[in-house]
Amino acid sequence: MRRARGLFILPGDEAMGNCVESSSLVENARAPRNAPYPSKAVAGRSLFSVSSSRTTYSTPSTLSVPSYSDKTSNGSLPTPRTEGEILSSSQLKAFTFNDLKNATRNFRLDSLLGEGGFGYVYKGWIDEQSFSASRPGCGMVVAVKKLKPESFQGHKEWLTEVNYLGQLHHPNLVKLIGYCSEGDNKLLVYEFMPKGSLENHLFRRSAQPLSWATRIKVAIGAARGLTFLHDAESQVIYRDFKASNILLDSEFNAKLSDFGLAKAGPTGDQTHVSTQVIGTHGYAAPEYIATGRLSVKSDVFSFGVVLLELLSGRQAIDKTKMGIEQNLVEWAIPYLCDKRKLYRIMDTRLEGQYPKKGAHAVATLALQCIEHETKLRPRMSDALASLEQLQDLKSAAFPLQADQYKPSCAISKSPTRHHHSPLHPAAVRSPLPSYQ
Ligand SMILES: Nc1ncnc2c1ncn2[C@@H]1O[C@H](COP(=O)(O)OP(=O)(O)OP(=O)(O)O)[C@@H](O)[C@H]1O
Ligand SMILES: [Mg+2]
Repeated sequence: MRRARGLFILPGDEAMGNCVESSSLVENARAPRNAPYPSKAVAGRSLFSVSSSRTTYSTPSTLSVPSYSDKTSNGSLPTPRTEGEILSSSQLKAFTFNDLKNATRNFRLDSLLGEGGFGYVYKGWIDEQSFSASRPGCGMVVAVKKLKPESFQGHKEWLTEVNYLGQLHHPNLVKLIGYCSEGDNKLLVYEFMPKGSLENHLFRRSAQPLSWATRIKVAIGAARGLTFLHDAESQVIYRDFKASNILLDSEFNAKLSDFGLAKAGPTGDQTHVSTQVIGTHGYAAPEYIATGRLSVKSDVFSFGVVLLELLSGRQAIDKTKMGIEQNLVEWAIPYLCDKRKLYRIMDTRLEGQYPKKGAHAVATLALQCIEHETKLRPRMSDALASLEQLQDLKSAAFPLQADQYKPSCAISKSPTRHHHSPLHPAAVRSPLPSYQ
């Protein structure tokens, strides 16, 4: 049931960017059971063979994460808040463990929707008015995420998620309805997303293939969610953008879920925050892995990877493939650069049912997003505008910048390449038109 996730955590100074006590740093609490990417950078940290040997650390007395005073414009600068402050100030419903046990029929296996890095997700039913548990089929459907109690990092991420989703509201962010905090029992209650995750639709053999139009719709929805976070007065870096965190409603509207790794963006003239490296192989930006410098452009890189997944139907990391094909970015780059070769990486499940120019435009955008140089990546609002333009032009004509974009696709053997973590080597390419 459980898939290899490829999550990784490298040591760093989390306290620098997130007001979390340094004693709270935990190295492998969110690592996957069968992560596929043994790496020099994490050698000896047992990050990738967790199972029962998961390391847990004692819990500090308080945790603090940034707060946002305004629900949509989040006008104030982040201020640290304790767990008690976060929970008491939010408009979220505080469920008892018993409520959620009843709502999910005692966390029955047939209520299980999925499993993530640190918890199981169950389908449940609650009364729309009272929010008390109701019979299956009656009231409102919810998704209940139950964190594995042994994970301290899970607790921190649980609180970060309550903090952010308790305050940020947008049609392209999943709605958090409430939480449960009873001793070690930490749960989250979300709106139910009937179509599940993008990952399931793109990569599950049994899933109905997504049409081209749906793929563009999903990309636009996800881009709107990221743009909202990046353009907020107190900027938020999402840090965990990937297909499994893009959830879909009944009409394939995309909503971002999982804010456990989200982080307040830099303030003043700063372009980045320095932080512990946590992320998912194949999606995390190379400069972030190499230096711990996190910026909104790290999210843009991950967005580019998801665009590639939408185009190709291939996963960011696929250990069933050989050599360079295991890493989607490395494999796809040469084909993205050449209009005539693009069809070779297009998802065969599309059966050729996509506009050639539209596909080329998305490929060009993806290439811009995965630029090695952060400055050359577009802002999310620009990426969104390109995609919306594509959708508006029903003929899927080429968006503005694509014609002027002249990528150099040579994968340089330059020594700078060796400065980047072997976790995620990305192509070093020559300077390109800037979006700054
Ligand atoms: N609100 C929801 N509505 C419907 N299904 C959901 C919801 N939230 C999660 N799921 C399902 O549960 C699965 C597991 O979600 P979870 O966020 O725990 O892990 P993940 O995103 O797959 O992995 P990771 O831990 O690496 O983020 C999702 O892939 C999705 O299929
Ligand atoms: Mg998730």
